[in-house]
Amino acid sequence: MYNYRRTISFWDDIFGKQTPKHYDKSMKIHKDLESAIDWISVGSKSILDYGCGSGAMIFKCAEKDNICKCLGIDISPKAVEFCKSTARLNNLETKVEFCCGQIEILEKIKENSFDAAILSNIIDNIMPNDAELLINNIKRIVTPNGKILIKLNPYLSQEQIEECGCKLLYDNLYVESDGIYLRNLSTTQWKDFIEQFFKIEEYKEIYFEQFNQSNRMFLLINSK
Ligand SMILES: C[S@@+](CC[C@H](N)C(=O)[O-])C[C@H]1O[C@@H](n2cnc3c(N)ncnc32)[C@H](O)[C@@H]1O
Repeated sequence: MYNYRRTISFWDDIFGKQTPKHYDKSMKIHKDLESAIDWISVGSKSILDYGCGSGAMIFKCAEKDNICKCLGIDISPKAVEFCKSTARLNNLETKVEFCCGQIEILEKIKENSFDAAILSNIIDNIMPNDAELLINNIKRIVTPNGKILIKLNPYLSQEQIEECGCKLLYDNLYVESDGIYLRNLSTTQWKDFIEQFFKIEEYKEIYFEQFNQSNRMFLLINSK
């Protein structure tokens, strides 16, 4: 009934307009994200980023000498094209690979084959059954005691939902006016969901000044 057709066209439109740049190690991301990437990279050799977008986070991981294998996956062909061009331009093709696809692609990845995973602004932008499938696959693919970073959009009040023109599909699943899904769960609801799969090492709210919004970030351990 629901599909990702509008999601793909929204992100294709964004990434299709971007030009890959020479990657500069001094390029800064939010300091809390930088710390989270440092945390996830310590003791890890391989990292998977599902819903990698521009690849900003996985390229940051690839900067670390101890990281040898990175894989970014995204549903948007234009995002993947952009990431591949960035990797080529920066001679990172052997270290960072990208592929276009949906959750099913994860089924082909062997268990315990990555030390860490990033799910940044993805599990609340997909349908609930896909979020569960994604988390189950991440749990399987990441090594025991491996690290996982989950970042979520802010929780929207009823007033904010009305303001941004989100349409309720069912339960807490909305579709934004641009076609992006939003599963609007409170932090406690997300915490309860996440704890069924992983041990929570840290929870932090990251404030993004340019959007005047906070994202919710969980740093997790794959307790198997
Ligand atoms: C909000 S962006 C986040 C990008 C990146 N993770 C970050 O935090 O900067 C969401 C990304 O997830 C991708 N995406 C959305 N639905 C997806 C799905 N079902 N499977 C894989 N990727 C998806 C989009 O194409 C987009 O690049």
